[in-house]
Amino acid sequence: MTPPTSMHEHTPESHALREQVWRYAKYRLDLFPVPLDGPVSFEQLSATGSGTITEEGIGGDAALDMFRDVYAPASISVDHPGYLAFIPSAATEAASVFDMVVSASSLYGGTWLEGAGAVFAENQVLEWLAAEVGLPQGAGGVFVQGGTIGNLSALVAARETQIAKHQAAGLPIPARWSFVCSVEAHSSLAHAARVMSCDIIKVPVDAQGRLHGDAVEAAVEDWSSVFAVVATAGTTNFGIVDRLRSVGEVAHEHNVWFHVDGAYGIAGILSGEHRALYDGVDLADSFIVDPHKWLFAPYDACALVYRDPELGRRAHTQHGEYLDVVSGAAEWNPSDYAIHLTRRARGLPFWFSLATYGVNAYREAIAHNIDVAMKFADIIRERPHLKLVREPELSIVVWERIGWEADDYKRWSDMLIEKQIALVTPSSHQGRVNTRVAILNPQTSIELLVEILDTMN
Ligand SMILES: Cc1ncc(COP(=O)(O)O)c(C=O)c1O
Repeated sequence: MTPPTSMHEHTPESHALREQVWRYAKYRLDLFPVPLDGPVSFEQLSATGSGTITEEGIGGDAALDMFRDVYAPASISVDHPGYLAFIPSAATEAASVFDMVVSASSLYGGTWLEGAGAVFAENQVLEWLAAEVGLPQGAGGVFVQGGTIGNLSALVAARETQIAKHQAAGLPIPARWSFVCSVEAHSSLAHAARVMSCDIIKVPVDAQGRLHGDAVEAAVEDWSSVFAVVATAGTTNFGIVDRLRSVGEVAHEHNVWFHVDGAYGIAGILSGEHRALYDGVDLADSFIVDPHKWLFAPYDACALVYRDPELGRRAHTQHGEYLDVVSGAAEWNPSDYAIHLTRRARGLPFWFSLATYGVNAYREAIAHNIDVAMKFADIIRERPHLKLVREPELSIVVWERIGWEADDYKRWSDMLIEKQIALVTPSSHQGRVNTRVAILNPQTSIELLVEILDTMN
């Protein structure tokens, strides 16, 4: 009996389709500059992009045409130098092209048994990151989907560890646990607290937006229910690095876990000039950094690193009759270190790029982004109708156009995208509207930034 496997067979038709998809991928990778593109209304997409899912299939040619002509232009190219909103992503050539190899190689990244080679390569990158941050040998972890899952996984490990410590010391287990972070910490932490049914103690920051250890000390009245203190190394809104040493020391004085959320900003440590900002990061019990942010890797990848990976493993290993063969083994199984089981070997595009270009190329690209941000801030300072909201520290610059209301920012932002200049969105701080750029793409030039600024006259 012939199995219904036409989808899996190598046939002249499947070969032709493969060639066509390669050609499209090559065309997209070769585009320079890339189009910015932009969102299209639901009504428009419904009119032009519906009806692709049918019993018989519309065929690869028609599906690829639909993607190229309708879906792709309705999706921002995040590697465009004018994509400056939120936290952009600009993958290197090597990382982008190797992402296709990861897909083509049908790798499983969850266990050593299935993916030893891929896991070994990823772990070299995690070891290197741990060493840059100053964690001792033996630190390690896993690449997860993004900073949100990275923070949540670290906090779950922190709480499990604190429960074990309380049990070992015969201390009562609080009815509700809490962790500490600054009022400017990323929204994923509030989300983690909801998911974990625990409380957050939000601590005020100084005028520059930094969390200090003494503010943590002053804000926490009862440490018996606190399982972690989280500092941010590069806030999302302003790119500000908390005073890591003082915060880490307070956490450790109270015998609780110190986690550093460096999803965006820990990458800045690679620019030697700015290393001092990160003083004390080596106290971290865990940290995260997203290669899909400022380490020039494609979505989606967050490196989660534990000082003592065994604490992550104890918190996250899943058990089942079908898993005993791997969960009982001594080898390194990435699935054991976060909230996931099946995983793509998503650290490999970053590994390939880092191996190809070397660490120095990363140091230079990151230092260049910071330099452009500082020059841009200087230009803003020179224009009397503009005002910096805070002095930039890394590669995020936030400013106000004096006299503008929310509607003015909205109209301006819409105009920039309509003219395909840039995606720069309105933002706000303490109730005041402003706008911001996050300069994470080495192709973003000071000329482009000035062109954007000139449209605010
Ligand atoms: C400081 C910080 N933490 C966490 C996150 C969440 O990361 P992700 O979007 O990859 O889940 C972000 C995202 O911008 C961030 O800036």
